[in-house]
Amino acid sequence: RPSNLQMEESSNLRRANCRAKGGAPGFKVAILGAAGGIGQPLALLMKMNPLISVLHLYDVVNSPGVTADISHMDTGAVVRGFLGQPQLENALTGMDLVIIPAGIPRKPGMTRDDLFKINAGIVKTLCEGIAKCCPNAIVNLISNPVNSTVPIAAEVFKKAGTYDPKRLLGVTTLDVVRANTFVAEVLGVDPRDVDVPVVGGHAGVTILPLLSQVKPPCSFTKEEIDYLTDRIQNGGTEVVEAKAGAGSATLSMAYAAAKFADACLRGLRGDAGIVECSFISSQVTELPFFASKVRLGRTGAEEIFPLGPLNEYERIGLGKAKKELAESIEKGISFVKK
Ligand code: NAD
Ligand code: LMR
Repeated sequence: RPSNLQMEESSNLRRANCRAKGGAPGFKVAILGAAGGIGQPLALLMKMNPLISVLHLYDVVNSPGVTADISHMDTGAVVRGFLGQPQLENALTGMDLVIIPAGIPRKPGMTRDDLFKINAGIVKTLCEGIAKCCPNAIVNLISNPVNSTVPIAAEVFKKAGTYDPKRLLGVTTLDVVRANTFVAEVLGVDPRDVDVPVVGGHAGVTILPLLSQVKPPCSFTKEEIDYLTDRIQNGGTEVVEAKAGAGSATLSMAYAAAKFADACLRGLRGDAGIVECSFISSQVTELPFFASKVRLGRTGAEEIFPLGPLNEYERIGLGKAKKELAESIEKGISFVKK
């Protein structure tokens, strides 16, 4: 049975061979919280991603089993498992991209903010590890409440002197995925042909679908706009209630996270025109963080696009979103500063 060191050498060799052949660049990716409801299907999807040569699966429980299972898939990435805090640094060293779905999910009746107490500390500790072991990695932050955990991560990186706003990305892809699905249902078209920008943040009224900017261009009745806005803003709660205490969205989230991670990796590779929505440090509004369309490139989010023209309905929604966002952002910042 090869040792970890032998595996490392063979994987480095494989990356070098691959590059020499003009093949995939062979990125190293870590998932923190890899044994969870999102983590497991996300690990599966990332193991299938040809851009990845090394996949590190870290959790505080059950990561050896998940790793053994995923590692039998006959795809290119070498999979390694890491269990518990003492193995966090090894899990992170050398990573190009770190995806964080670690933390507790909602139960019916809870808001995402109710998760702050536990998840804030988890995200802080994990980001301290990133600052130490892979300060140049792109970070995809999934743990809720995203509107606060991204500011927490930023403060941790600032404290460590490693903060690069372009590399810290809150994952709001599930809002876009839902919006595309629900809009396609209303229009009676294939969701793959629909693109709905969703801006603001990732909780309730902070999730602001820009239905006036749907591609391909289309128009909705007032009833359709009310229905779509409400369904997109409450898509997470719809799943939490349907799961009735067994957690929140995991499978659609793993799909969304894999889609976003793949976009980040294609950006890192140097592909042109990779545009996704993300909650990020931003000057699009007066708030320090805001979700909008960003262009992903070799150094992370290299361009942040303005919101574009909003109609009256969206301008009112933006006002509500900014009010709640301001509080959630401040809560995250002061958690680290205090
Ligand atoms: P889960 O409870 O099934 O899995 C979470 C995993 O995190 C568990 O395996 C747990 O052991 C692990 N974990 C806990 N503390 C850890 C630590 N310190 N280090 C590493 N791992 C740790 O939950 P889930 O359904 O996978 O959801 C995870 C998080 O993602 C929740 O906070 C949830 O609200 C959030 N979420 C976000 C989005 C989004 O769109 N951004 C969508 C769905 C869920
Ligand atoms: C979601 O949108 O599905 C996630 O944020 C999980 C949740 O708590 O709703």
